Amino acid sequence: MIEMKNKTIGKYKIGSLILVFLFAGLLSFAQDFPPWPSPTDAAAKINPVEYNKKSLEAGKTMYNLQCKACHGETGKGDGLIKSASLVSDKFVLQSEGSFFWKLQTGRGQMPGFKAIPEDQLWNVINYVLSFTRPEEDIVMKNAVVSLIFNEKGEKKKLKAKVEQIADDGTKTPAKGVKVNLGIKRYFGILPIGTSKSTNSRGEVKVTFPNTIIGDENGELTIIATIDDMEYNPAEATEQIAWGQVNANDYWTERRALWKDNDYVPLWLLVSFVSVSLGIWLVIGYVALLVRKIKIEGDKVS
Ligand code: HEC
Repeated sequence: MIEMKNKTIGKYKIGSLILVFLFAGLLSFAQDFPPWPSPTDAAAKINPVEYNKKSLEAGKTMYNLQCKACHGETGKGDGLIKSASLVSDKFVLQSEGSFFWKLQTGRGQMPGFKAIPEDQLWNVINYVLSFTRPEEDIVMKNAVVSLIFNEKGEKKKLKAKVEQIADDGTKTPAKGVKVNLGIKRYFGILPIGTSKSTNSRGEVKVTFPNTIIGDENGELTIIATIDDMEYNPAEATEQIAWGQVNANDYWTERRALWKDNDYVPLWLLVSFVSVSLGIWLVIGYVALLVRKIKIEGDKVS
């Protein structure tokens, strides 16, 4: 009897020991990594890559590919492998130079990313910092776009010029800015060519096709938009009679349903009138029948 009791106590002892070990294991799992100081000269290094949307976008792609598995979606260190938090107060306090050095050097499970080009590492750093930085900190350059039309006989050239505006208001041509050119249609925009980047004069050029159909005067609305994450969104629209004259305009275009005028589309007019006529015909026919019934009834009685 006593022996049996001892056995059960023994079982509990083993069970609680296992629990203690599990708990201790969990504790050590949750513990911080030992301090990882970086050399002072490395820590003093300045981030040369501007904190803008372009950099954040590139950094995000790289982070999701190279870091997310361990550091988690939002840098909490909660990926598949237990890793350091990149959003803790302690972490955020260290310099970007120190961050860069750790990325290149690595320690323990954390690989060193020496093989990756430096500007890409800075992009990742910018992206990781965006987890804890307000969105307003993103730098966006200010620019304007304008349209220039050039016509020599049959040849039509369309140019869009992008200029960057400095804080004091001075304008300089902006190079390497992506611009989309298109023609406004009732629904959406018909692109002219693919989006191109501006040259050193801040310009993109396209040969304008001669086959585009305009309105009854051949007018088209051309639109140029800046499609570049480093810049504020901007657009320019201009009217020009570079399209083919649309002779059918009165019966098709002008009476189109989506047009902002009082003209009713022909098909709508015809169907409305015929349906109304049809209904009145039926009503008239029924009235005739009722009258006939009444007359017949009167005859019988
Ligand atoms: C295989 C898993 C793994 C991958 C992949 C990984 N890390 Fe780490 N990282 C760790 C671990 C584990 C630590 C803690 C290392 C230590 O302190 O010993 C760490 C530490 C760090 C630190 C230092 C944190 C501190 O407290 O100073 C930074 C910064 C960091 N990682 C950024 C990154 C970035 C950015 C990437 C992607 C380019 C990345 N890591 C990829 C596992 C990983």
